[in-house]
Amino acid sequence: MTVTTRPIRSEPTVSPAAPSGLVAPVSGEIGVGRADADATPRRREGPEKLTGAAKYADDLVVPGAWYGATIRSTEAHARLLGIDLDPDFDWSKVVVVTAADIPGENVVSLISDDQPALVSTEIRHHAEPVALIAAPDRATLRGARRRIRLRTEPLPAVFDPLESRQQFAHFELAEGDIDAGFAEADLVIEGTYRVGHQEQLYIENQAMIAIPRDDGGVTVQGSLQCPYYIHKALKRALALSGDQAVVVQTETGGGFGGKEEYPSMIAIHAALLARRCGKPVRMIYERHEDLAATTKRHPAIVRYRSGVTHDGRLVAQDIEVIMDGGAYCTLTPVVLSRGTIHAGGPYRCPNVRIRGRAMATNTPPNGAFRGFGAPQTEFAAEMQANRAAEALGISPLELRRRWVYREGDTTPTGQVLRESVGGEEVLERAAEASGFERVRELTRIGRHARTSRQRTASGIGLALAWHGAGFTGSGEVKLASVASIELTHDGRIRVLSASTEMGQGTKTIFPQLVSQELGVPYEAVEIAVPDTSVVPDSGPTVASRTAMVVGGLLIKAARRLRSLVEDATGRTFADSYREYAASHGGARVDQRFEPYPDVSFDDDTYRGDAYPCYGWAAAVAEVDVDLDTGEVAVRHVVAVDDVGKVIHRVLAEGQVEGGTLQAVGYATIEEIKLQDGRYLNDRLATYLIPTAMDAPHISTILVEKPFSGSPHGAKGVGELPMDVGAPAVVAAIHDAVGVWIHDLPASPERILAALAAKGDARAGTRPA
Ligand code: MTE
Ligand code: MOS
Repeated sequence: MTVTTRPIRSEPTVSPAAPSGLVAPVSGEIGVGRADADATPRRREGPEKLTGAAKYADDLVVPGAWYGATIRSTEAHARLLGIDLDPDFDWSKVVVVTAADIPGENVVSLISDDQPALVSTEIRHHAEPVALIAAPDRATLRGARRRIRLRTEPLPAVFDPLESRQQFAHFELAEGDIDAGFAEADLVIEGTYRVGHQEQLYIENQAMIAIPRDDGGVTVQGSLQCPYYIHKALKRALALSGDQAVVVQTETGGGFGGKEEYPSMIAIHAALLARRCGKPVRMIYERHEDLAATTKRHPAIVRYRSGVTHDGRLVAQDIEVIMDGGAYCTLTPVVLSRGTIHAGGPYRCPNVRIRGRAMATNTPPNGAFRGFGAPQTEFAAEMQANRAAEALGISPLELRRRWVYREGDTTPTGQVLRESVGGEEVLERAAEASGFERVRELTRIGRHARTSRQRTASGIGLALAWHGAGFTGSGEVKLASVASIELTHDGRIRVLSASTEMGQGTKTIFPQLVSQELGVPYEAVEIAVPDTSVVPDSGPTVASRTAMVVGGLLIKAARRLRSLVEDATGRTFADSYREYAASHGGARVDQRFEPYPDVSFDDDTYRGDAYPCYGWAAAVAEVDVDLDTGEVAVRHVVAVDDVGKVIHRVLAEGQVEGGTLQAVGYATIEEIKLQDGRYLNDRLATYLIPTAMDAPHISTILVEKPFSGSPHGAKGVGELPMDVGAPAVVAAIHDAVGVWIHDLPASPERILAALAAKGDARAGTRPA
């Protein structure tokens, strides 16, 4: 393992909170000039998070609240015959809720209505919620928990998606003539790639507090990405009206997709218990429960055939994607759809067939995770590109130069890429910044000169990716998001949206965009807490859509508010809005999403503009492989991302660094082992992610190829870097030791096995 210290940038920091007189008052930002401060204003929730003042759900003191817990299945597939309560326990002290107590529909509302909030007859995965209990104190809760037994009868279980007969979704994309393509090919590269589960591992576990309301409804507050998903789920499961269900986000310690759908489940549970005992109920997961029961990234098998010509043209791609959905549908169809659309990689190919299917298994349901299906399939696409380059004797950089999409090219859904195509630029910038060809020549020399005494090998690897911006297909049109700006009667400016802050910057960039548009200081714009009784539905905080889509709505809303005030006062907004507010009693502008011009997609045929535009990413990774242990140390990553428009440089770079590190973990150490459908390493001691000590030095370069459909040109940055990290690392491992690792993670065991299979006698054995 290498420890790399990275240069410390002089970034805006928290103004000292010491009493005045002790520390000289600081005006503006520390370490940046005024112009810079405008482009990178201080992160809104930063100081509170840093000082510990921020209140996460578990920090909230709710007087009289009871503690809730979930009784979970211990089998992967079974019939539930009964729930036995030990008669020696005093059950009058606690409340118990089962499926029979659900006042509305027993579903966690999402895409398909297959997932119950509580099992009524059939257990379909390990750690599935079967019953709920709440008690006034933790000791009583623990006591009650031990005295509940599930009576079950085992049923045969399916763990392998290839053996499953139940399909959640399937897609087929075709462009050109696949047979003619392979007929033209001089060489066919075939490969099967497997990627496993990955845990989002937000720092704050899932947590929700439900508080009964006087109107018979419930308010839930907790850690979440999508207030209106929960709102809908609560209404259905508890048979509530829109006003009776209120969802409020508390400070959220990361989501990464893991708080996209699961919070609906825990919110329903907390609400059912609160309704039953008439008290507020806290449902705060411990890490073990969170790891054992909540969604993970979908494992996938990708079978790939690429046809290439001797002169290095890509003429055919035949791809089959099989995803493991787990026991219930959750968001699987949408994850599969994105995975399928991206499976060809960012490469022009006249003859393509991509078939994707997602199958049910008796394992905990898989769900949203940064990248949403694309990292799985683009890993395979990049492996194929690198293997094709090797087979043709062309450098991986040169091959990509020839293949990468350019303006005017057609994608597998028949979409013509009309604008904002940054693939070539990110590729060149990454190659240049990393000195790719030069370092690759050095690693080649190193490989040939290596003696048996050398116990590490170094390598460099390159990957390229595209990532559709915003929701897939007609998703954004169907969502019809609304975001608002309010000028209050007392002259405050407030942003109203359901878009959540989870560390990625919503609370900072919204006031930033609005203040720039209104010509007022950043500090003058407030942002409302996402509370469904207050804010409009600006859609879920997913698909890296916040800056592009909702940010775009707010810019338009700000322009309208500005004209409204300026037309009435005849002066600039900044000079006159307080006066306007006083005389007119305030104003509010609601901005609804309008379809992007000339963007259309047919959901039935899966043809057309799958996304209004794409983000583009390249990564070059340098690794050291330990030849005795097979361990990989990722030393340096150059990450280049075309995000359309950089709104806040520090936050955008943070997204690239975080996403890159998450991808490095995916590539090297993050792995879930299953036995009989149960996660074996469901503890932080055994599910490993990279720590600061494992982090490579990351050099980030942001490229701006603006998208004309958003008023500021932004395309999103949140997920993009997740697509390229893993294939770049695996390419670097190959450059170092000469073996291709087809399965993620490229764990020490897999690397040693591959070296042994290749006949590298030294693998895993130290010279005597
Ligand atoms: N960054 C932080 N710090 N915390 C997060 O939970 N989630 C990621 C990404 N970056 C996440 C994050 C995921 S999965 C998505 S979809 C985007 O942020 C969502 O935020 P955006 O729409 O603002 O890009
Ligand atoms: Mo992100 S996986 O779309 O929450």
